[in-house]
Amino acid sequence: MSKIIGRCVGETSPIEVSFVSKEMPKVGEYVSLVYDEKRVLGMIESLVRGSVSINDDIYDPKIIEKIEEIEGDDHYIKGTIRILGDIDNDLRIPRTPAPPGTEVKVADSNVLKTIFEIEDTGLKLGNLITQEEVEVQVDIDKMVTRHLAILAMTGAGKSNTVAVITDGLLNVNGSILFFDMHSEYVNAEFSNGQVNKINALLNPQYLSFFELARLADISRKAYVQERYFRMAYKETMESLQKGFINSNEFFIDIKKRLSDLLENESYKDDKKRITAVLNKMNYLEDQYSNILDLNAPNLVNKIKINSANVIDLGSVDEVASDIIVSHILKKVLSKRKEFLRTGQGLSFPVFVIIEEAHILAPKNRSTNSKNWISRIAREGRKFGVGLCIVSQSPKSLDPDSLSQANNMIILRLVEPTDQRHVQTASESLSEDLVEQLPSLNIGEAVVLGLMTKIPTLVKIDEFRGKLSGRDLKIVEEWKKSVEEKKKKLETQREEFRELGGDY
Ligand SMILES: Nc1ncnc2c1ncn2[C@@H]1O[C@H](COP(=O)(O)OP(=O)(O)OP(=O)(O)O)[C@@H](O)[C@H]1O
Ligand SMILES: [Mg+2]
Repeated sequence: MSKIIGRCVGETSPIEVSFVSKEMPKVGEYVSLVYDEKRVLGMIESLVRGSVSINDDIYDPKIIEKIEEIEGDDHYIKGTIRILGDIDNDLRIPRTPAPPGTEVKVADSNVLKTIFEIEDTGLKLGNLITQEEVEVQVDIDKMVTRHLAILAMTGAGKSNTVAVITDGLLNVNGSILFFDMHSEYVNAEFSNGQVNKINALLNPQYLSFFELARLADISRKAYVQERYFRMAYKETMESLQKGFINSNEFFIDIKKRLSDLLENESYKDDKKRITAVLNKMNYLEDQYSNILDLNAPNLVNKIKINSANVIDLGSVDEVASDIIVSHILKKVLSKRKEFLRTGQGLSFPVFVIIEEAHILAPKNRSTNSKNWISRIAREGRKFGVGLCIVSQSPKSLDPDSLSQANNMIILRLVEPTDQRHVQTASESLSEDLVEQLPSLNIGEAVVLGLMTKIPTLVKIDEFRGKLSGRDLKIVEEWKKSVEEKKKKLETQREEFRELGGDY
């Protein structure tokens, strides 16, 4: 028999009831109510504690002492329960409200286990915070097709969550594509699949004119520079297509064409601007020699099934990351469309994970990636391209992309502006759950959206594999360094002594 924790009071509605209790339940705890021959599941959303006799109008602590002597413990606990649905009818919201007086019981963990258990397409995230014996699974199909946002302040457990999800997806042969901004995943080890490292090498010939112009730092406002660059670029591309030059001569040819313009009297008034474009070509080659390769194959062809495909952007600057991410997103989407249309292209669905999403898809700035992130957020569902955006600063994140994420895992989040943004983006995050966010511990999360039948508070599993970027044990690191230094010194002394030296 489950414990009775209170009774419904006042006016109730089919979606919300108030209750009073003598014992303190927990916010986020599941409860069940039996009425009108139905078993109804609910979640405790808010709680207050009060006293009938000790109210706000008392200004003297001595009076309170006196009241307590006379009245004893007259404290009460009041709260609200959000109705989640009929346990025996697919969690449909009942049409009738609970009658006042209805018993509120702690939900039976066996009932919860069946709700959180998903056959075939389930991924275990962790366990309920309030009832640890209940495992929480989410639906992979719904997570991938309807996108996911993982939001939390720094150090709260976002990367750990990403790793747990990745391992779960690898378990069902998943193909995951990481844009690894801090080289965190490139050396990771998962228990259910391999990391496939993909070098972030772009072939300039396959970049669009605007992508190249952005890398060359030719601003859209410098339209004269842009015009000359376009002239040279177009002619070079034509020569390449006709086979007059080979791919290794791509930049040489563009620069030659710009130099020819400089020699040409008809362009003498624009000499300075043409020279600027030439300089920018040199800058482009110098600055991005590490990511540009005239013989690089199409990166999308390197994405593997049953793998954590990692594109390491750890040593790449923000502009280049933006171009790489947008270029690959564009190609992934188009290759998936091609496959579904013609049978050629990318033959399996991909779940794309974007860490530091607020840098690539910022709120008040336009970036190349932002366009493609929001495009995949809108269209990806139909073509099997799922998106997971991860950010420690939801308030700086593009609200359009955020609101397209129909699933959310929100860990500890303290900043009120961040909380407000998350709440605006998610219809199902009530104010009371938002209030829980600052008090969550590391690894504890509110999980919402289509991938879970009911909103839930979860203690995410600790990822057991290898992952860089975890909190360093500083004192241990210092100790290790000193010991290594001592050992080195000792070996040197030993060698010196062996050579007959006097130490
Ligand atoms: N569910 C969990 N259980 C146990 N420990 C956890 C859990 N989640 C995170 N941790 C620990 O907390 C630390 C920080 O976690 P993590 O790197 O995932 O945070 P983050 O939100 O990604 O931080 P950042 O914003 O800096 O990227 C790690 O050392 C990790 O081991
Ligand atoms: Mg992280």
